[in-house]
Amino acid sequence: MSRFVVLLLPVVSAVILASDPRSPSERVDRRPSIGDAVPISFGDLTPRVGDVVNGSRLYRTHCAPCHGISGRGDGPASDYLYPRPANHTDSTYMASRDDRSLFTAIRKGGPGVDRSSLMPRFDDRFRDSEVYDLIAYIRSLHRDAASIFGEGVAAMRHSTVLEPVGPRVDFLTDARGRAAVVSDERAIVLSPDGIVERVDPPVDAAIVEPLVDQLRRALLQEQRDVDDAKRIYTMYRTSPDSLAPVQRRFVKSCAACHGMTGRVVGPGVQSTTFVAANLADGTRMNARPDEFVRNVVALGGTWARISDVMPGYEHTVSGAELDELVTYVRSLAIPPHPASNRLDRGCSRR
Ligand code: HEC
Ligand code: HEC
Repeated sequence: MSRFVVLLLPVVSAVILASDPRSPSERVDRRPSIGDAVPISFGDLTPRVGDVVNGSRLYRTHCAPCHGISGRGDGPASDYLYPRPANHTDSTYMASRDDRSLFTAIRKGGPGVDRSSLMPRFDDRFRDSEVYDLIAYIRSLHRDAASIFGEGVAAMRHSTVLEPVGPRVDFLTDARGRAAVVSDERAIVLSPDGIVERVDPPVDAAIVEPLVDQLRRALLQEQRDVDDAKRIYTMYRTSPDSLAPVQRRFVKSCAACHGMTGRVVGPGVQSTTFVAANLADGTRMNARPDEFVRNVVALGGTWARISDVMPGYEHTVSGAELDELVTYVRSLAIPPHPASNRLDRGCSRR
């Protein structure tokens, strides 16, 4: 597992540091409109075409109860689901999912792409062509990675909470070191050296500047995180006793997915098939009771019906160590957990 982490670090740094200035992309927004026939990309396979109109019809019937008619993840059943149904208008998230993984998610359900089993499998409900129609419709709800970075460029999603108070910045990076903040209204792309490369559609500097500023701070913070990760890993290898036992446990058992520092950085925690939680995201984690955190770590993501990828540690980690891990996870939160010094000893195992 630790070898896995080492292998990833150079990739992470390469993504963040790569300095390969390209000429500004001249792509226009390829966002399809209703009625278009939309090419679906399966990489090596023959290109398919999906019919957005038929896709929207199928979506209304089969998907809208959970994902909502507009695809925002706010259908009538969504209040009863955790995790919430995916928001198909979230351009940053959806740009990180390729068409193949959408196909698998629809065919095999959430577990097919290491997501929650609350996303049902529609194995024999649809013909292949109907799944392409659904994908075409989903793609019409947001910008895809190709419209932001160009055809065939792999994009990675980041979600960083800015220290010390914790606004979250969601952004994408590509393999050439470009970074982008994306919303349904616009995309702002920075070149590898941090210069604004494209604002699409063009808009007032007063709107662009604060977003660019946030993105630059998030990139710097992730760079610091990579440095921290390297430092922790070096200590782990050369003088493990200089780390607290709970930190050693975290590096050994959790870092491959959650990052050395528990914050989300790079492909170790984000693959095309799963996104590990950013444990430092206080806006998310502080709402979780200690008992929930302890049970997720003890019993795994299936217990909470979050991702099946999150393993359970009740057979490998002692009860005392579990308590320490909960305290440790609490201590990472930005903004800080209100009671991070106090572990609720009364919390029970299910
Ligand atoms: C019973 C509720 C429910 C229904 C019905 C449903 N979904 Fe989902 N879907 C979910 C939930 C919950 C998630 C989030 C899973 C997660 O994040 O672990 C999800 C996630 C997804 C994802 C994202 C998977 C990923 O890669 O993150 C896609 C794509 C998707 N659904 C497509 C569809 C389509 C298309 C339909 C209709 C044919 C549909 N869903 C019907 C609940 C539902
Ligand atoms: C194989 C990858 C993997 C490993 C190893 C792993 N996790 Fe996770 N973890 C995940 C994924 C994936 C999720 C779910 C993320 C989501 O659905 O948003 C998760 C979720 C969690 C959550 C819940 C977050 C929330 O939103 O409530 C906690 C807490 C957590 N992990 C702690 C740990 C700890 C502590 C360890 C080590 C003892 C660990 N994880 C090891 C992948 C992993």
